[in-house]
Amino acid sequence: MTILAIETSCDETSAAVVRDGKILSNVVSSQIQLHAEYGGVVPELAAREHLKNFLPVARTALADAKISAEEIDAVAATQGPGLPNALLVGFKAAQAVAFALEKPFVGVNHHEAHLYSPWISGEPPSADFSQFQPNISLIVSGGHTILVLVESELKHRVLGATIDDAAGECFDKTGKMLGLNYPAGPEIDRLAETGNPKAFDFPRPLLHDASDDFSFSGLKTSVRYFLRDHPDLLNDEQKIRDLCASIQAAIVEVLVAKTIRAAKREGVRCVTASGGVTCNRSLRNELERACKKNGLELRLAAKLLCTDNAAMIGILAGQKLKQGIPAQDLDEEIKPGWVLA
Ligand code: KG4
Ligand code: ZN
Repeated sequence: MTILAIETSCDETSAAVVRDGKILSNVVSSQIQLHAEYGGVVPELAAREHLKNFLPVARTALADAKISAEEIDAVAATQGPGLPNALLVGFKAAQAVAFALEKPFVGVNHHEAHLYSPWISGEPPSADFSQFQPNISLIVSGGHTILVLVESELKHRVLGATIDDAAGECFDKTGKMLGLNYPAGPEIDRLAETGNPKAFDFPRPLLHDASDDFSFSGLKTSVRYFLRDHPDLLNDEQKIRDLCASIQAAIVEVLVAKTIRAAKREGVRCVTASGGVTCNRSLRNELERACKKNGLELRLAAKLLCTDNAAMIGILAGQKLKQGIPAQDLDEEIKPGWVLA
C-alpha cells in the first residue's frame, strides 16, 4: 500500500510517500525564516505559504520516491489540531487529490501521529511495530506538551498536558527576553552547552504535583522578573549562557521527572518522545540517563522526525488502513481544536 501524506497544521508544508510502513520520501518546507521577522507564526502568512508550497512539495515527494501519481493507493492529511487556515490548505488539497485519483482518504490527528514517530528507524526509515510495547509518550513542541499512555498500537489515553504555555513556547519566550531570535529553543540549546545550569535557580512548576499536567507560564514570568531586577546580566555573554543553561535545566527537569514518574506508576517498560523540543540535547541526554537508571527502554524520535513532517502522518494512516479502520468521506472537515483523548 502506497500512501501520499500531507501535513500543513502549522508552519511546515510537508509531503511524504510511505509504502508498507517504509518512508520513500519526506519533503519538509519550513517557513521559519518568514515568521522569524514577526517573532512567531503569523497564521494568515502560514496559510498563504502552504498554498504556494503545496504543489512543488507534493511533486518533489513523488519524484524523490520515484513514483507516479497513478501508483498512489491512498491519500492522508493532518485533519487537526492546528491553525485553521493552514490545516484547510493541506487537508482540502489532499482530499482533491484523493477525489481526482479515486482513492481512499484518511484524515489524521497530528498528535496521534507524533505518538508513533519514535518507532520509525533504519535506512530507509520505516516503522517497526514488531518492536512495539506499551509506553509513556511525551509530546513536546512549540504549541503542546502532552503526556500519553500508549497501551497498544492505535490505543492511547492522555494522562496530562500543559495547563498554560507549552515547553517550546517557554523556550521561545524566555529566549526572546534574552535577545535571541525566534524560535529561540535551538539557540538556547546551543548557548546552554557552555553555560552553568546551576547558576540561577528558576522554579520547576508542578514538579511535585500529583497530576500529570505541566505549567510553564510561571517559569516564564519568573525569568521576566529576574531580568527586570538584574538587567546588567544581559551585557555579559557568559551570564547569558548561564541563564540559557539554567532555564533549560528547569524545563528539562520537570519534563523528565514527570515522564519517568508516569512510566513507573503505569507499570510500562518503555518511554518515547517526539515533537520539536525533543531535538533538545539536554532533554535527550537526561531522558536517556533517567530511563537507564530506572530500567526503562527509551525511544526518541529521530531529529528529522521530531519536528512536523508528513511521514508520520503517512505511517499512522497506513497503520489505520491495515487495521481495517475505514477511509473517510471526502466531505469531512478540518478539526482545528481536535484534542487527543
Ligand atoms: O514540533 P515543532 O517543529 O512545531 C510545533 O510547535 O508544532 O516544534 C517547534 C518548537 C519551537 O518552540 C522550538 O523552539 C522548539 O520546538 N525546539 C527546541 C529545539 N529545537 C526546536 N527547543 C529546545 N531545544 C531545541 N534544540
Ligand atoms: Zn507537531
